[in-house]
Amino acid sequence: MSYKLRCISCGAIYDPDEVEYTCPKCGPRKGTLEVVFNYDEIRVSREEFSPERDMFQFEKLLPLPKNYYKVPLRVGGTPLYDFPRVAEKLGVNRFLVKYDGVNPTASYKDRASALAIAKATEKGYETIYAASTGNAASSLAGLTASTPHLKSVIFVPAKAPRPKIVQIKVFGATLVPIDGSYDQAFDISMKIGDKMGWYSRNSAINPYLLEGKKTGAMEIAVQMGYKVPDYVLVGVGDGTVISGLYKGFYDMYKVGLIDEIPKIIGVQAEGADAVKRVFDKGEPFEPIDMEANTIADSISVGKPRDVIKACKYVKASGGFYVSVSDEEIIDAQIELASEMGVFAEPAGSAPYAGLKKLVESRRLGKDDTVAIVVTGNGLKDIRALEKRFEIVPVPPDEEKVLEYLQKSV
Ligand SMILES: Cc1ncc(COP(=O)(O)O)c(C=O)c1O
Ligand SMILES: [Zn+2]
Repeated sequence: MSYKLRCISCGAIYDPDEVEYTCPKCGPRKGTLEVVFNYDEIRVSREEFSPERDMFQFEKLLPLPKNYYKVPLRVGGTPLYDFPRVAEKLGVNRFLVKYDGVNPTASYKDRASALAIAKATEKGYETIYAASTGNAASSLAGLTASTPHLKSVIFVPAKAPRPKIVQIKVFGATLVPIDGSYDQAFDISMKIGDKMGWYSRNSAINPYLLEGKKTGAMEIAVQMGYKVPDYVLVGVGDGTVISGLYKGFYDMYKVGLIDEIPKIIGVQAEGADAVKRVFDKGEPFEPIDMEANTIADSISVGKPRDVIKACKYVKASGGFYVSVSDEEIIDAQIELASEMGVFAEPAGSAPYAGLKKLVESRRLGKDDTVAIVVTGNGLKDIRALEKRFEIVPVPPDEEKVLEYLQKSV
């Protein structure tokens, strides 16, 4: 499909083969690019989409050539759960959970990786690299493992959760475990990737990642029969996932598939709330950096790379940002799991923590239909929970077991 690239800050328009990543005038931080379509050219109808199919059912709304490369693994088509009992308890009209923990590598990031791989293939690259807090990394490693013509090189903080690191290794990617923060891993990866001529799957830098990430929003719209929720909440680190959600609803609105765009609410950890701070200061949005400190490793970002889009898009939707403490994130993780059977990693439970806070302060209430996006599977990072749950072995003796049960049930 034909499309252009437009700088989010200065509005300059580029042909896709004119620039690879960001606006040369505005630089990599402020000059992130939007993919712009000519909506009049796109012919789609509600009937052609289904609640079950994978993310590439939206190919007519993706910046891909005719014979694009599609990874063999099934990405997207994840469930949207409805929990009326929880809605009643919270005091909202309807409560839904988009659960992306069931993607091939167990996070929302597979949507972006699948698109980045299609783009790398189209452009003829042999190696693709990413810096990541962990999920984008394990996702790229997994999806390139299913793609024989591409190799991946992955930069992550060495202290990323073990399951994510093991994923990268078992998928056979080249791992560069950086002795430093995600922000440092990102900066060094850019230098090396550039020098080696590899394709970048780095958040914000590559304009196509957001296009993959928008498919989650499109699925929500299809799964709700094109009557979108009033609010959609999601955890925010660099700001690409949240920008993608807005773009998904925006594209659908522009081609006439939905009548309105939900208000998008970004939820950040108190110890890594740079996007919220920039948003709250107001326009013109100026990026800020901070030292990130939260147990929610996936959103432990101090130098958010997609901050401009994340602020502009959330503002355009009529939404806002809220921050939550690590305690609230862990409590939300336990509540989602024990009351709904949905196991989220901390960054994935952050939106539930945010929702609870907003309901308590009456910013959201009984008239509102609310969806949260659980972006990562709980098995990705169990460190915080392990500390909460002490396991004391019971002897294999009938009386001792009965005694134990009396105390526990
Ligand atoms: C599970 C999970 N949730 C949320 C996010 C936040 O996405 P972004 O960094 O695009 O804001 C990430 C990013 O790593 C993630 O892995
Ligand atoms: Zn620019």
